[in-house]
Amino acid sequence: MKVRVNDVGPRDGLQSQGKTLSVDARAQLIEALVGAGLRNIEAGSFVSPKAVPQMAGTDELFSRLPASDKVRYAGLVPNMKGYQLATAAGAKVVNVVLSVTDTMNQKNIRMSLDETADVCKAIVERGHREGVEVQAYLAVAFECPFEGLVDPEVVARYARLMHSAGAAKIIIADTIGAANPTQVRQVLDLVVPEVGADRLSCHFHDTRGMALANITVAVDRGVCEFDSSIGGLGGCPFSPGATGNVATEDVVLLLNSMGHDTGIDPLDLVPLVHLAEELTGVPLGGKSFRWLSQQRAKLLGEAGHGG
Ligand code: COA
Ligand code: ZN
Repeated sequence: MKVRVNDVGPRDGLQSQGKTLSVDARAQLIEALVGAGLRNIEAGSFVSPKAVPQMAGTDELFSRLPASDKVRYAGLVPNMKGYQLATAAGAKVVNVVLSVTDTMNQKNIRMSLDETADVCKAIVERGHREGVEVQAYLAVAFECPFEGLVDPEVVARYARLMHSAGAAKIIIADTIGAANPTQVRQVLDLVVPEVGADRLSCHFHDTRGMALANITVAVDRGVCEFDSSIGGLGGCPFSPGATGNVATEDVVLLLNSMGHDTGIDPLDLVPLVHLAEELTGVPLGGKSFRWLSQQRAKLLGEAGHGG
């Protein structure tokens, strides 16, 4: 099966760093991801720079991204103002975020769950009229840091709502990395028959080390798109306890090893982890990083001897 790996490091990863990267540095990371074969990248968010200073200048960033009809650059938006800023900056793919609990919406974007659902629906519908692909994140889909465990029926209800509004994708997001494979199966057993596996994507954080197990369950149920961040970069400033996304190199290695086609060679991701470390000043690397580094060194050594 062809599986899309979407690197969200430039947004989800960088938004929580202590160090705010320049637009130049953010562009450098994105260009390197494209160079390594990533074709889906969440490049940044159009949010209040007071709320998330790390994402200031995303409009300038979009104007600089290497133009390509092969690469999809998405911009996250929290409201209609964000949608307007994103499309004015040339974004063709826009991500809305509907946290499925009231408290999480209040903490994140200062709207109630009902208000957020209305806004997301309005953005999806406007995107349809304007030829913009709008994808809907269902955040804290398994557990909310404020309200605890989430009922899978609630996730199914909002998946239905976003699907009937016409969302291009519905992304089930484990924002704090609390899900286990049984919960993933329960949610997907409800949502897949309603929405179709081809319209779903999953977004896991690796807080408790279960992200790869969760992906295995999802891919076996036909889900063919996953979010990840290079080196496991990340966290979330608005949800206490969240650590980085599952690492892109781990996801690519897992899926390729299972016989799926990501179109990416995990060895090509090794230098990117180093780049992300250099730019952020934070040590990074997924569970497979050491092994991948050794394999790459061996290959380069052999190539060196040959030439
Ligand atoms: N992008 C940039 N600025 C925005 C904006 C957007 N999408 N939406 C609102 N603003 C600006 C307003 O123009 C206003 O500016 P001013 O102070 O210069 O007049 C200011 O933000 C406050 O507007 P208001 O509507 O009162 O928003 P708020 O203070 O209730 O904050 C959000 C709401 C959504 C703007 C803010 O909480 C936010 O950006 N959150 C993003 C959180 C995030 O990125 N989470 C992680 C990903 S889900
Ligand atoms: Zn996330």
